[in-house]
Amino acid sequence: MIGTNITLEVKEVAKYFGGVRALDGVSIKVPNKGIVGLIGPNGSGKTTLFNVITGFYLPTKGEVWFKGERIDGLNPNEVFLKGLVRTFQIPRLFKSLTVLENVLVTPPRQIGEKVLYSPITSKWVNQEESLVEKAVNLLHRFGLGNFIHSRISELSAAHIKMIETLRGLITNAYMYLLDEPAAGVAYNTARELFTMVKRLRDEEGLAFLIIEHRLEVLMDFVDYVYVLHNGKLLAEGTPREVMNNPKVIQAYLGG
Ligand SMILES: Nc1ncnc2c1ncn2[C@@H]1O[C@H](COP(=O)(O)OP(=O)(O)O)[C@@H](O)[C@H]1O
Ligand SMILES: [Mg+2]
Repeated sequence: MIGTNITLEVKEVAKYFGGVRALDGVSIKVPNKGIVGLIGPNGSGKTTLFNVITGFYLPTKGEVWFKGERIDGLNPNEVFLKGLVRTFQIPRLFKSLTVLENVLVTPPRQIGEKVLYSPITSKWVNQEESLVEKAVNLLHRFGLGNFIHSRISELSAAHIKMIETLRGLITNAYMYLLDEPAAGVAYNTARELFTMVKRLRDEEGLAFLIIEHRLEVLMDFVDYVYVLHNGKLLAEGTPREVMNNPKVIQAYLGG
C-alpha cells in the first residue's frame, strides 16, 4: 500500500517497444494537491509514461497506483472514470460546437457514453440541469463567461486549452495529466493557463502532472520536477535544484 498523502505513484515502470526501451525503471510520485512537472528532451519517454499511466499502454514491468488502488491493466476509460483525466498535445474538442457544449460532452456515466450524439440530441438537458449550471459557473469563474456560446473554431489557442482543462472538472476529476499545455501559446497566456492550474489545485484540490517544454513558465508553478532522459530518471527535485543540476543542463544542450 502507498501513503494516503500520495495521489499517484509509478513504481519501477518499464515499457519496451521491441528493442527500444522507451521507459526503463521509472518511479515517480505525485502528492495530493501536488503540481509536478515532467520534463526531458524529445524522445525521453514522457508521452509514453502518460500512455502507461492512463491505460493506453500496458507497462512491460512495474506498477501504477492511483489513490491507493492499482490501475495498470485498466483500460483508458476505466482510468478516466477513476478521476484521472488526460489532456492531449492537440486539444480534442469539437470545433463546430460551442464552448458550453464542449464542456458538457465529456461527462461519463451520462447518455454521453456515446459521446458524439449527446450534444446533438440535447438529451442531457433533462438529465441533469445542474450539470449545465456547474459548467456555466466554472466558465465564469475562470474568465471564460463571455465565450460560453462561442464556437471552438472562433477561439484562440490559449482559450481552447483552458476549456479542454476545465471540461475535466465536470467529470469529478481528481487529477490531471497535461501534455504541453503551453505549447504554441504566448508567454502571458501561458502564465494565465498555469495560474488556472494553481487555482484548480487550491480551490478544487486537484493534483497535476504536467509535461512542458516551456521551462521558463513551468518552473514558476510546479512544486517538484522529474527529468527523464533516454527512458530513465535523470534527476528530480525542486525547480531550483533541477535547473541548477549540471546533468540536466547537459541533457538539454544535447550533451
Ligand atoms: N508506439 C511506439 N512504438 C515504438 N516506439 C515508440 C512508440 N512510442 C514511443 N516510442 C519510442 O519511445 C521513445 C520515447 O518516446 P516518447 O515517449 O514519445 O518521448 P517524448 O514524449 O519524451 O518525446 C522514443 O524513442 C520513441 O521513438
Ligand atoms: Mg511527447
